[in-house]
Amino acid sequence: MSILERVRPEILTLDAYHPATWKPGMVRLHANENPWRPDGDLSAGGLNRYPEPQSAELARALAGLYGVDPDCVLPTRGSDEGIDLLVRAFCQAGQDRILVSTPTFPMYGYAARVQGAGIVDVPLRAPDFTLDTEGVRAGIDATVKLVFLCAPNNPTGGHPGRQAILDLAEQIGERALLVVDEAYIEFCTTASLADEVAGRDNVAVLRTMSKAYGLAGARCGAVVASPTLIDLLRRLLPPYALTTHTIEAVTGCLQDQGVQRTAGQVERLLASRQSLATGLAGLPAITRVWPSEANFLLVHSQRSSELLRMALDAGLLVRDVGTQPGLAGCLRVTVGLDEDNARLLMAWSQA
Ligand SMILES: Cc1ncc(COP(=O)(O)O)c(C=O)c1O
Repeated sequence: MSILERVRPEILTLDAYHPATWKPGMVRLHANENPWRPDGDLSAGGLNRYPEPQSAELARALAGLYGVDPDCVLPTRGSDEGIDLLVRAFCQAGQDRILVSTPTFPMYGYAARVQGAGIVDVPLRAPDFTLDTEGVRAGIDATVKLVFLCAPNNPTGGHPGRQAILDLAEQIGERALLVVDEAYIEFCTTASLADEVAGRDNVAVLRTMSKAYGLAGARCGAVVASPTLIDLLRRLLPPYALTTHTIEAVTGCLQDQGVQRTAGQVERLLASRQSLATGLAGLPAITRVWPSEANFLLVHSQRSSELLRMALDAGLLVRDVGTQPGLAGCLRVTVGLDEDNARLLMAWSQA
C-alpha cells in the first residue's frame, strides 16, 4: 500500500495548471504584464513582472537549509498554507477526518472544518501534556487520513522526542500521513525530522521562516516530504503563490549572514526564556510554568483574566489560551526582548 492511496482520487488525477513559460533573459510578451516598473520598486525581479511560478531558487535555498533534496521541498505561504494543502489533498468533505492531540495549534482543526472534514481528538495527557501514542494509534481508522503532530507543541511547548515520532510513523505505516509541524524546532534540543522524509513517504514535515528566522511578515514556510507527495501538493498551489518580495527576502536572508544571525538570536532567546520562566515561576499569581522547547511559555494562574488585563494596561499583549481544551486559566507568553519580558514581570508582580 502507498500513502497515495489515501489521497483524494480527484487530486491524484488532477492536471497541473500551466502558467506562462518562465525563461529569464527573454522579453516577456506572453503574460500580459505592464512593461514599466512601479515607482519605488526596489525588487531585483521587478514588481511589474510575475515571479517564477514556483521558485526553484527558493526551493534550493530552503532545501539547503533543511539538508534535503530540492525535490523534497515545497515552499508555501507560511506553514499555514502547508496545513491547508495537505488537508485539501487528503480529506474528502463529509467523509474523511484528521487526528489531532489537543491542546495544540488550532489551525489543523480550522483547515479541516473549512474542508468539511471531521476531527478525531486524542488529547495530550494532563498535567504534563505528553503525547498519548497508544491513543493516537488506536484512533486511526479508515476515515483518518492525516495525523497532525506539533513538535514542539503550540501552546504547551513540549516535544515527544525524535524516536517516539519515528516509532509512531513506523506503527502507523501507510494508514495515514503523519504530519510533523516543526514551526518551533530551531528553539528545541531535538533535531528536525526533515532528513527522515526522503526514505519515508508516510511522513511530512512542516517548517517555517516565521519564527526563528524572523520573517513572519514575508509569509514563507515549506512542506518537506517525499518527491511524490511534493509533486502532488505542487499541483494544488496557485501559480505565483509566493511573491517577488518573499522570494527575494528569503533567498537573501539565507545567502548572507541570515543563518548565523538566526543561530545567535536563538541562543539569546533561549537565555531569555530561561530567565523569564524563572521570573514567572517566582510570581505569587502564577501557579505553574510548563517547561518549553519553543519561544514561548505556557503559564497557569487562578487569576488569568486579571493578569491579562494587567498586561494590557502595561501595553503588553499575551495570548489567552484558556478556552482551549484542558487549558482553563492558561496564558501563553512569547519570549520577547529582555526589557519587555521585564515589563511583564513587573506588571504581574503587582497581582
Ligand atoms: C505550530 C505552528 N505551526 C504553524 C504556524 C504557522 O506559521 P506560518 O504560517 O507563519 O509559517 C504557527 C504559527 O503560529 C504555529 O504555531
